[in-house]
Amino acid sequence: MEEKKNRKTIRLDRYLAEMQVGSRSQVKNLIRQRQVTVNGQTVLRPETQVLAGSDCITVRGQQICYVQTEYYMMNKPAGVVSATKDTREKTVLDLLKDAKRNDLFPVGRLDKDTVGLLLITNDGELAHRLLSPGRHVDKVYEAAIKGRVTGQDVDAFAAGVDIGDDKPCLPANLTILESGEISRVRIKIREGRYHQIKRMFQAVEKEVLFLKRLSMGNLKLDETLKEGEARPLTPEETERLKAL
Ligand code: URA
Repeated sequence: MEEKKNRKTIRLDRYLAEMQVGSRSQVKNLIRQRQVTVNGQTVLRPETQVLAGSDCITVRGQQICYVQTEYYMMNKPAGVVSATKDTREKTVLDLLKDAKRNDLFPVGRLDKDTVGLLLITNDGELAHRLLSPGRHVDKVYEAAIKGRVTGQDVDAFAAGVDIGDDKPCLPANLTILESGEISRVRIKIREGRYHQIKRMFQAVEKEVLFLKRLSMGNLKLDETLKEGEARPLTPEETERLKAL
């Protein structure tokens, strides 16, 4: 099935640009300079249609295989932004060195100072399903909180905290791991509002000092990944996510 989906017809220059051989104009130049072959024949027209996943494309003698979709899990470090491009700040994509495609994006955002699980893909359909507000995909975080987190906070989160939006938050599960001057908690939310967890704690007069995402739906952070590292999802992880 995957094999069949990979066989699509695509312009040669787009194929090469998607596989990050160069920008669209750079690959056009390569083609015109007779550096590109399709099934052993030198091709001079960038608009030549090729069968991705089936035709054999080479650039300067090196085979360029086509990859239709990529899925990576990153353990996002603090200090990088969840964006594809940023002229001033380092982005999560700057950390993803082994990606084949040029159209990857992070699925949802973590704040610059938040660490942990971030899915990066070019599968727009999956991203839409995971982020769509009506789907309520669970996200689990661990946090360090300034102040003593109490049973009252647990009840407030379970009832749905008002963070100043049109509607209060959906009920969230707050588990106290340690309560003290600095508390440690685990929290499960079903939405993805802007700065949601920080604003939920603000609403009960507390401050988030550290925030780490542990899971999104059935995808769990691989704790062997150091902050800043990423790895492709396994076929099982990808299938389970798609089946959510
Ligand atoms: N909630 C926040 O406040 N920040 C994040 O990065 C994620 C959830």
